[in-house]
Amino acid sequence: MAPAETPPLAQPSAPAVEVLSAEKTYPNGTQALLPVDLCIEEGEFVTLLGPSGCGKSTLLKMVAGLLEPTDGRLHLWRKPVAQLGESGKKMAFVFQSPTLMPWASVQTNVRLPLDLAGVARGEADARVSEALALVGLAKFASALPRALSGGMQMRVSIARGLVTRPDLLLMDEPFGALDEITRHKLDADLLDLWRKKKLTVIFVTHSIHEAVFLSSRVVMMAARPGRVVEAFHIDAPYPRTADFMVSPEFSRYAKLLQDSLLRASADSTEAFA
Ligand SMILES: Nc1ncnc2c1ncn2[C@@H]1O[C@H](COP(=O)(O)OP(=O)(O)O)[C@@H](O)[C@H]1O
Ligand SMILES: [Mg+2]
Repeated sequence: MAPAETPPLAQPSAPAVEVLSAEKTYPNGTQALLPVDLCIEEGEFVTLLGPSGCGKSTLLKMVAGLLEPTDGRLHLWRKPVAQLGESGKKMAFVFQSPTLMPWASVQTNVRLPLDLAGVARGEADARVSEALALVGLAKFASALPRALSGGMQMRVSIARGLVTRPDLLLMDEPFGALDEITRHKLDADLLDLWRKKKLTVIFVTHSIHEAVFLSSRVVMMAARPGRVVEAFHIDAPYPRTADFMVSPEFSRYAKLLQDSLLRASADSTEAFA
């Protein structure tokens, strides 16, 4: 009999995402990102914040493997992005607009990634129910997207991301088009989900308040050329509630980020001065 394997030493955390001097110049010559180095531990909630055009979407798409870096590397769970499957981990990408199939029911929309992966119907339907319950849409499985509000459509889009049971959730300004109250509700629900499912999240937003409320760390970027300029740990404990948003601590972090964003935006225009 083979000797029992020694269990791996318990590690407090492992890098889920490693961006290793990854840079991007688009074919038209636009230098979207100077080399970025960023290590994200498993279970972190990291927000990318910065003025328009600073490369947030470019960075997120490279992490997702939707774009190749011009130079440098990106690893997920210590494997090149393209080999994520070998690590047994999964990733999902939630875009800014819900991009639902208008002719298909909520459950058919949410089941799409499982249908594409050839998951058997019974198993897929069970997972769809689970994902819809997680986003509070259990009762809307047979509704058509047009019957739902913008916030609910975004929830469908998130359920479609969750249905594959991802370990890493990438979200590019997912709530940017929603009104303030709906956005806050979705932010709060996203935090619950992140904790419950022990997800690693990379979130993109323009909103300082959203960044402070959600993140364990905020990475500030500047434009022309796109680059990472600063990072801030938001050390407030979770769960974070509406009370946190009116606390002196929240204001202090918001001010820090606001000053940093102003610096980043000034940096961005310097090239034109
Ligand atoms: N497909 C593309 N081809 C050429 N330039 C692009 C392309 N996508 C984005 N860019 C440029 O790259 C820079 C970074 O864009 P992006 O990553 O979308 O920034 P952000 O998401 O922070 O607004 C911008 O100058 C943008 O115009
Ligand atoms: Mg963008």
